[in-house]
Amino acid sequence: MTSKTKNSSVPYAPGCNSNSDNSILQVRNLRKWFNVKSAFRFAGRDLFGTTSWLKAVDDVSFDIEYGKTFGLVGESGCGKTTTGKLILQLEKLSTDGSVDAGNIFFKGEDLKNLSDAGKKEYRTSIQAVFQDPWSSLNPRMRVRDVIGEPLKIATKMTRSQINSRVSEVLEEVGLHSYQSNLFPHEFSGGQRQRIGIARALALQPELIILDEPVSALDVSIRAQIMNLLVDLQKEHNLAYILIAHNLATVRYMCHQMAVMYLGVIQEMGDTEAIFNDPMHIYTNALISAALPSHPDIEREEIILPGEVVSPIDPPSGDVFMTRTPLEVDEKHEYFSTRPNLVEKSKNHWVIDTPWSLATKENRVKMASLELD
Ligand SMILES: Nc1ncnc2c1ncn2[C@@H]1O[C@H](COP(=O)(O)OP(=O)(O)O)[C@@H](O)[C@H]1O
Ligand SMILES: [Mg+2]
Repeated sequence: MTSKTKNSSVPYAPGCNSNSDNSILQVRNLRKWFNVKSAFRFAGRDLFGTTSWLKAVDDVSFDIEYGKTFGLVGESGCGKTTTGKLILQLEKLSTDGSVDAGNIFFKGEDLKNLSDAGKKEYRTSIQAVFQDPWSSLNPRMRVRDVIGEPLKIATKMTRSQINSRVSEVLEEVGLHSYQSNLFPHEFSGGQRQRIGIARALALQPELIILDEPVSALDVSIRAQIMNLLVDLQKEHNLAYILIAHNLATVRYMCHQMAVMYLGVIQEMGDTEAIFNDPMHIYTNALISAALPSHPDIEREEIILPGEVVSPIDPPSGDVFMTRTPLEVDEKHEYFSTRPNLVEKSKNHWVIDTPWSLATKENRVKMASLELD
C-alpha cells in the first residue's frame, strides 16, 4: 500500500481510505494517555502513589465521510468519549513532550496548521450532542438562550436574528417556536434531546458528534430521535460520529463503524459487513450480548470471560490478549508488538492474531474450553 494518496498529506493508516476528497475529518494515530496515580501491591504491601499511564486512546485512526455516519462502539471505558472530546478539542493532546500523539485533519488540513479563519470554521463546523445535554447548562436558562448561546458566542448576529434562527431550528427538530420561552425542565426527556440537537444545529455544522444521544431515553422515544437525526442528516448532508454502546442504534444509523477495546480499534468497516459477518471474537461477544439471536441465524453465542480489564498499563502487544478465552502464545510477536488492522474482505478490517478471530477453529477450541 502506498503511504499517501495523490492529493493529500494525510498519512495512510490501515482501514482508512486517506482520500481527503470524500472525508470531512480524518483522525490519524491519535493517542491520549492520562497520567494517573494508583495503588500498587508489591510483596504483599501497598505502595501508594505509583504513577502509571492510563491508555484511554491508543493509536486510533479513522475517516469520516461527508454526509455519513461513523459509529464508535465498545464497552464503557474503551475510549469513545475521549476520542470525541479530542475531536471537539474539549480534551487536548499534551504538548509537553509527553506520550500524546496523533493528528486530526479537517478537510485535508492538519488542525495544527489551520489559519485563524480555518480554526473558526472548524469550531462552528463541528458540534456535539451529549447523552444529557443539560448537565453542563444552567437550568435557569430559557430554551431561547440555550439554543442561541453558540450563535451569540461565534457570530455577530443581532438578538432578533438569533431569535429567528432559534425559531427555525426549533421547528426543524419538531418543536414550536413559542416554546423558546420555556425552561428545559418543562420538557420531556425526548423533547430535551430535541433541544440539544437544535442547539447543535444552530451554527449549521457539517459534522455532529453524537455521544450516546439516545441512551438515556425510553425505548419508545429512541426511534423518534434516531429518525429525526437521520432526516436532518439527509436534509443538511450532515456527517455524524455516533458514539454508542447500543448495537441496534449503531446498525440503524451508521454507514461505517469501528469496534474499540481498551483504546484500540479491533474491527472497522462497513456496518452491514460487520453485522453480517463479525470477525473478531470481541465483536461477536458484543453482538451476542446485545442482540437476541435469531432462530434462523446459526451463530453460537460468544461470552467473554471476566470484566473489561483496566486500561492502566495494558499489554504492550495486542490489548485483547488478556480477555481472550483462548491461549496466547507468549513467544508470538503480537505478545509484545501491537498488531495492525488487516483487510479481510472489502472495507472490512480486523485485528488478526491467532486468538482474535472467531474462526471455526477458534470456536471449536472455545467450545472445548467450556466443557472443562
Ligand atoms: N480526564 C481523565 N483523567 C483520567 N482518566 C480519564 C480521563 N477521562 C477519561 N479517562 C479514562 O479513560 C478511559 C476512557 O474513558 P472514556 O473515553 O470516557 O470511555 P467511554 O466513552 O468509551 O466509556 C476510562 O478508563 C476513563 O476512566
Ligand atoms: Mg463515553
